[in-house]
Amino acid sequence: MTTPLQILPLALQHSFAPGDDLEAIVLDAVSSARWPDGSTGLIDGDVIVVTSKIVAKVEGRIVQADSREEIITEQAERVVATKVTPRGVTSIVQTSHGLVLAAAGVDASNTDVGTVVLLPEDSDASAQRLRSFLMERTGSTVAVVVTDTMGRPWRLGVTDVAIGASGIQVLDDHTGRVDEYGNTLEMTVVAVADEIASAVDLATGKLSGAPLAIVRGLAQYVTANESSRARDIVRPLEEDLFWLGTAEAMAEGARRAVAGRRTIRFFTDDPVDPDAVERAIEDAVLAPAPHHSEPFGFLVLRDDDTRHREQRTLLLDSMREAWERDLIDIDGKGEDEVQRRVARGNILRTAPVVIIPFVDLDRGAHTYSDERRNAAERDLFMVAGGACVENLLIRLSAEGLGSAWISSTIFAPSIVRDQFGLGDRVQPLGAVAVGVPAQGAKDRPPRRAHDYIVRID
Ligand SMILES: Cc1cc2nc3c(=O)[nH]c(=O)nc-3n(C[C@H](O)[C@H](O)[C@H](O)COP(=O)(O)O)c2cc1C
Repeated sequence: MTTPLQILPLALQHSFAPGDDLEAIVLDAVSSARWPDGSTGLIDGDVIVVTSKIVAKVEGRIVQADSREEIITEQAERVVATKVTPRGVTSIVQTSHGLVLAAAGVDASNTDVGTVVLLPEDSDASAQRLRSFLMERTGSTVAVVVTDTMGRPWRLGVTDVAIGASGIQVLDDHTGRVDEYGNTLEMTVVAVADEIASAVDLATGKLSGAPLAIVRGLAQYVTANESSRARDIVRPLEEDLFWLGTAEAMAEGARRAVAGRRTIRFFTDDPVDPDAVERAIEDAVLAPAPHHSEPFGFLVLRDDDTRHREQRTLLLDSMREAWERDLIDIDGKGEDEVQRRVARGNILRTAPVVIIPFVDLDRGAHTYSDERRNAAERDLFMVAGGACVENLLIRLSAEGLGSAWISSTIFAPSIVRDQFGLGDRVQPLGAVAVGVPAQGAKDRPPRRAHDYIVRID
């Protein structure tokens, strides 16, 4: 027969202070604890649950709090999320213990006004010390859990969790076990120590002044093995899907967007999502342009569309012929060298999608009576076009797509205009090969502004 779960809260008439003998106080309380059946004290398999608050107090973790914020910052290993509310700033931080919690666990309740209590330095070690002492003095094999109160993401309300543990299996991994219906469980790991902590909190209540309780009926989790610690419940950062607050993650994404774009020259055969391309174009046209104009346009040639494929081949063949003529007629290159050059692998022939961005000077460019200013005006539109293409590439990258911006059409504007029936003031801005990246880009060294800013003496 399994023992029913029993929780015996123990109110202590003691206000804890640094240097108090917690072990003796707890021993005294648990030894005289009276159970409903009239028995007293501990038996094998009992779990002694103690709040971190009293552990921290006796360990001298009380500090004067001129500035609670400063202490929180000191205790924080990293800031996970910050929220400004009318009551002040709430910081969710990760502490050196790995715990992610509000205000680094720095607590101003149940302590003298003007002071705050930090978390114990090492709650697993505190639990281990208390357990050894209790086992030695009582002769019973028991476990110790040190608890603290935390909020949870997605859920309102606080619950207690285990931040220190000794002699208890803190996690119960059900992986591989078969349920009553014959299903094999694949990822169920029960947070036993946390469940004990919250059960005790429920039984004692926040205001009852019972910082100690004994849990009976969970002997199956009590173990002589001390290697299972509350520290093991902390999810490793690299496995954590939620390691930043939402606002912080968005800010981080925005900061990384530019550096995340790299030229990608190898693509898989996977199709490119047309909606992703449209979203990239919608971002691209947000680029600043002269006179509040929006002079941008795009030809999108997909390889999964026959008409597009024909048009692409026609365009690339025409541009290659023009290039050959330039090499022979203007540069005086020999036939062999010309063939070698133009035969180089051309990403624009193989990419799943090719986008040809352009600016159209007829969409907002001013005209002047002299060539100097007309040339400057054309430059204005071309640089705006550059910003537009960069926007396009950044959003493609954010959509998980790779891209390579290739000069080609800039050297052959009339071929593009003629083939696609575009006006003679259309200026193509090269061609962008787009596809699902077949490989990541190489790392590049960080740039330093210092190397680019011209000193003005
Ligand atoms: C306007 C422009 C034209 C480019 N033309 C070509 C090209 O014709 N052929 C090519 O292989 N790469 C071309 N590139 C890509 C660059 O040579 C180079 O690969 C790229 O800037 C690498 O940096 P990234 O990884 O930060 O993108 C061009 C880049 C720009 C901005």
